[in-house]
Amino acid sequence: MTRTDPTAAFRLDDKVVLITGASSGLGARFARVASAAGATVVVAARRADRLAELVDELDDALAVEVDLTAPGGPEVCAAASIELAGRIDVLINNAGISQVAPALDFTTEDFRHEIEIDLVAPFALARDIARDAITNGRPASIINVGSILGEVGGGKLRVPGYAAAKGGLHNLTRELASQWGRKGVRVNAIAPGWFETEMNDAMFSDGGGQAYMEAGAAMGRPGIEGELDGAMLYLASDASSFVTGHVLQVSGGWTAT
Ligand SMILES: NC(=O)c1ccc[n+]([C@@H]2O[C@H](COP(=O)([O-])OP(=O)(O)OC[C@H]3O[C@@H](n4cnc5c(N)ncnc54)[C@H](OP(=O)(O)O)[C@@H]3O)[C@@H](O)[C@H]2O)c1
Repeated sequence: MTRTDPTAAFRLDDKVVLITGASSGLGARFARVASAAGATVVVAARRADRLAELVDELDDALAVEVDLTAPGGPEVCAAASIELAGRIDVLINNAGISQVAPALDFTTEDFRHEIEIDLVAPFALARDIARDAITNGRPASIINVGSILGEVGGGKLRVPGYAAAKGGLHNLTRELASQWGRKGVRVNAIAPGWFETEMNDAMFSDGGGQAYMEAGAAMGRPGIEGELDGAMLYLASDASSFVTGHVLQVSGGWTAT
């Protein structure tokens, strides 16, 4: 019988975790949970006031104000985070937007913008964080925050740019995992179902939106705050040391039915 604590592998002590889109919603939650698990966290987003509040609240946290759609934004974010914290052990590519419109009304410009924040920025960040880890002979874990709408279409929701970006992010996860697996960098994704955040306020306050979320999930409900904590801690920590290239759906069974 083992004498060691089997939950110890889920701790993030001595790890530095960079979380993009940490000024609200899931990213702010990931920052709080990583911090509670012992990590130093670097939080990144555009709203500096929100980041400053979070840094004040947490034990060991740093902020990087960045627009990830600005030219060179992701590269500046990666370099500034490494400079501030000395290294990044875990990257959580969480920043994102979701534009709702029928494909026939969706402009090419809107599509490009969505891809820029939801797919191009995560790629550039992953590349620069992985390069630094590999160059310095350190392991790293990268978590891409995808979506169940990267696995299936949005149905009545109509999110052409989002579906394309998240689907791309899921397969980018597998490609990067295959390129960096022997170099010590693991790459996985979390595909959440519905969680109430600024992004989908409208869906949660609308009867039709509620009905859509309840009908589509095998469990008949959206997620509640905290229900992504376990997936994030698992993929970030040494508890998942033999897991790479995986897309972990946390959705109440959105694709099960
Ligand atoms: N909530 C859900 O039901 C759900 C489901 C599946 C997947 N997701 C994914 O979860 C992630 C987080 O979303 P959320 O629900 O927590 O929404 P949210 O509260 O709107 O958070 C989005 C975050 O992205 C940041 N962001 C947006 N554009 C940015 C830019 N140009 N540069 C830097 N940061 C930017 C925002 O910060 P600033 O505005 O301060 O820059 C904000 O912190 C997204 O990738 C989303 O696709 C969410």
